[in-house]
Amino acid sequence: MQRIVGLMSGTSVDGIDAVLVDIAGTERDLAVHLVAFETYAYSPSLRSQILEVCAGSPLSVEELATLDDAIAQSFADAAINIQAGQSVKATLIGSHGQTVFHRPPQSGQLGYSLQLGRGDVIAHGTGTKTVSNFRAADIAAGGQGAPLVPKIDVCLLSHPTLRRCVQNLGGIGNVAVLPPLDSALDLGKNVKGWDTGPSNVLLDLAVSQFTQGQQTYDAGGQWAAQGTICQPLVEHWLQQPFFCESPPKSTGRELFSPAYLQACLQDAQAYQLSEADILATLTELTAASIVHSYRTFLDLMPDQVLLCGGGSRNVYLRERIQTLLTDAIPVLTTDEVGVNADAKEAIAFAVLAHWRILGISGNLPSATGAVQAVPLGDIHVPWGLGS
Ligand SMILES: Nc1ncnc2c1ncn2[C@@H]1O[C@H](COP(=O)(O)OP(=O)(O)O)[C@@H](O)[C@H]1O
Ligand SMILES: [Mg+2]
Repeated sequence: MQRIVGLMSGTSVDGIDAVLVDIAGTERDLAVHLVAFETYAYSPSLRSQILEVCAGSPLSVEELATLDDAIAQSFADAAINIQAGQSVKATLIGSHGQTVFHRPPQSGQLGYSLQLGRGDVIAHGTGTKTVSNFRAADIAAGGQGAPLVPKIDVCLLSHPTLRRCVQNLGGIGNVAVLPPLDSALDLGKNVKGWDTGPSNVLLDLAVSQFTQGQQTYDAGGQWAAQGTICQPLVEHWLQQPFFCESPPKSTGRELFSPAYLQACLQDAQAYQLSEADILATLTELTAASIVHSYRTFLDLMPDQVLLCGGGSRNVYLRERIQTLLTDAIPVLTTDEVGVNADAKEAIAFAVLAHWRILGISGNLPSATGAVQAVPLGDIHVPWGLGS
């Protein structure tokens, strides 16, 4: 058994999810025990700097270095704080870092994905071997570099008889489609995965704008629940080419940006929508884009959908996904089947680090489009630890 820290901050840029886990086994026999979990919010100034860079604001290499220092330090602090009071310390850290740029591969050009928070600083700050930069190897092999969690989902959430969709509702949504365990036995060949599009990112931007930054998200979806969905607008927004593109596919804040929200708000003017109506309609875009992608890209609809990520706390969004899927397909959260819905992505990067050290591949070519399965991440060893 190995004690490992997993660190993740996603496209919502809300904070660093940190887990301390005990991991036994490797793939089919993988077992993860969650010892501790916390989200360490970014300071408002660091968050707004990151959001500006994600929105395409130019910065010098020197400014990039300073931002990287601040993010790496925050990740190192998170790794230390999640272990406070624990007598047994982690022997390994898996750190995703903070994505500030993501370019999917297109016609002959490799993708590019940049995560700040360099692993050397985390390794030396904590005295612990650290794996980081998980997306680069998949991208070099022609993949999207995303989603990287499906193989962990196969190991932790496959069901013996049910076909499951594990739907992450982060800033950007992504799905892993898990056939019943028997047919997933070759670990992932029949597993599909893709980014479904915006999950919280446009909602969060709209809420911040409507409240002049006083609120950063629609807690429980209560504001959206007071509005009325503008169906013609949802249909119009679903015409966006990303939703029609076949998987594998990935996206980010480069497409679903503040400028994208402004275009949506302009569209909404023609219908004279209230703020609540706009939030209801944006929430419907998230729900409809997810369900539409299952109907379009899957031969068989799932028997169950398991939600995870912060958006799984949005009661209204969950209700809309359930309604669009109809009662035939129950919508649960991964909490309900034993995997903490807020911690799962951070757990995944602890597992990917574990696999990296063992030389086990982390990506599923069926989900990322890479030409082969490869171990993911760069290993950083602090001085004094040998190799
Ligand atoms: N109680 C809640 N109600 C509605 N939305 C929530 C709630 N808690 C978190 N969220 C949403 O989830 C987001 C964070 O989810 P997370 O899984 O951390 O995404 P990411 O991986 O992109 O950082 C927040 O920005 C917010 O939009
Ligand atoms: Mg987050």
